[in-house]
Order: sequence, then structure tokens, then C-alpha cells
Amino acid sequence: MIGVYDSGFGGQFVLRQVRRVLPGYDVVYLGDSGRAPYGGRDVHTLLDFAEQCVERLLEEGCALVVVACNTISCVGLRHLQRRFGPPRGHVLGVSIPGAELAVGATRGHVGIVATAGTVASGTYVTEIHKLDPTVRVSQRAAALLAPIVEEGWEATGIAREAVARYLEGLRGIDTLLLGCTHYPLLADVFREVVPSGVTVLDPAPYVAERLVDWLDRHPGVVTAGEGRLRVLCTGDPEAFARHGARFL
Ligand code: DGL
Repeated sequence: MIGVYDSGFGGQFVLRQVRRVLPGYDVVYLGDSGRAPYGGRDVHTLLDFAEQCVERLLEEGCALVVVACNTISCVGLRHLQRRFGPPRGHVLGVSIPGAELAVGATRGHVGIVATAGTVASGTYVTEIHKLDPTVRVSQRAAALLAPIVEEGWEATGIAREAVARYLEGLRGIDTLLLGCTHYPLLADVFREVVPSGVTVLDPAPYVAERLVDWLDRHPGVVTAGEGRLRVLCTGDPEAFARHGARFL
């Protein structure tokens, strides 16, 4: 069984892609919606929440947990891998696939738009420079965007105005990586607002492809099941089902 963990609904974009490429696998999704958003929280709290959530997914029988949350992938992936690595399980994140995707697409200047926690960690910058030290990376923390999506306001002028303001801090980029689980719902707004010639990247499909590749290289870690899906959340389940439908 594969676990997919996020702070809330947004990781369901990754979940959708995982189910597309691995339809025969059983998946448990855990959204920590009762404590989201994560983006502005301090590192100790984030690690604490992440440990609890990964522990729960392992208890559910997951042999592999995909941390779909960019903030946790950037701030705590190594910590989670040390704590829950083999023989207990395997933990993968989204920051390395995101960096690979950006480096593959850029002509030299990548912009990252993400939560404050992701930006402060510097993880995307580090991962991109490991792959290509010549790439310039500019980051922008966009504290308002995840809450705008959670409100369901992604098609409003508020969303457009907020995206435009945040992009003002990313002049000269040729590639924009959406470094937060919620932003694919704003992808059309980003594409509308970015200067022409800037490629907007939603990493979720590539994250799923890299997962397939990882499973091929680690045979026997997770065996295919019946394509079942269970969705768990820590907040109000009705609200989660209602809002989650927009992502899944
Ligand atoms: N899941 C978070 C991320 O990808 C975004 C939402 C939040 O702040 O909790 O960084």
C-alpha cells in the first residue's frame, strides 16, 4: 500500500496522478486538514505534525509514503527518512522531482512560488544547484495563495491580483515552478499573468512518473493491490470531502 500525505486537500493532485500511473495499487491519502495551513508554521511544529502523520500511514499498512506537501518535503524529508526509513518504511518527497523538472525546462532562470516555509528552507535552490549550478533561482513566498484556494476563490479577481503581485518579485524568469500543492488550481491564473515565454510547471504528473521509476528500481517494496483508495483527514470530514472533490 502507498501512503500520500499532505497538509490538506492539495496533495490530491499528486494522488490523482499516482492513481493514473499506478491504477492497480492501493492508496491511503492523509490530509492534515485540521492543522493546515502548514506554510507559515515553525520547523519544530512541522516536524512534529509530519512524524505523527507518517506514523499513522505506516500503521495503516503503507510500505511507502509519498510526502506530497512541498513544505514538509523541503523542511523535513531527511528527518522523516532517518526516522521512518527501512526496515520500517520508505519516505519520498516532491522537492527533488520538482527540481529535476525545473532544470529540464529552464533556459537559465527558474522562479519558485511556494509557502514561506518552503522558501525559507532553501531546499529547491539547493536541489536545483546540485543538478545545475549555473541555473539562477528566484523564490517568492506567497502566503495568501493557499488560503485563497482553500476558500474556493481561485477564479476571482482576488486570486488574479494576488498572483500578479507575487509575480512582480520574480522578474526575468523563463520557468515558474508551482512549489505548493494548492497552486495547480491557480495554474490558469498563473499562465494568464506570467509574461509570454515563461513556462509554468505543475510538478504533480512528473512526481508520479518518478514514483513509478522508484518502484521499478525497488522491486518488492510495495506490491500491487486492487486499486482501492481510502481518504483520511484530521479536520471536518464533510468539509474535506466537499472541498477535496475540486482537487480529485
Ligand atoms: N501543502 C502545502 C505545501 O505544498 C501548502 C498548504 C499549506 O500551507 O498547508 O507547501
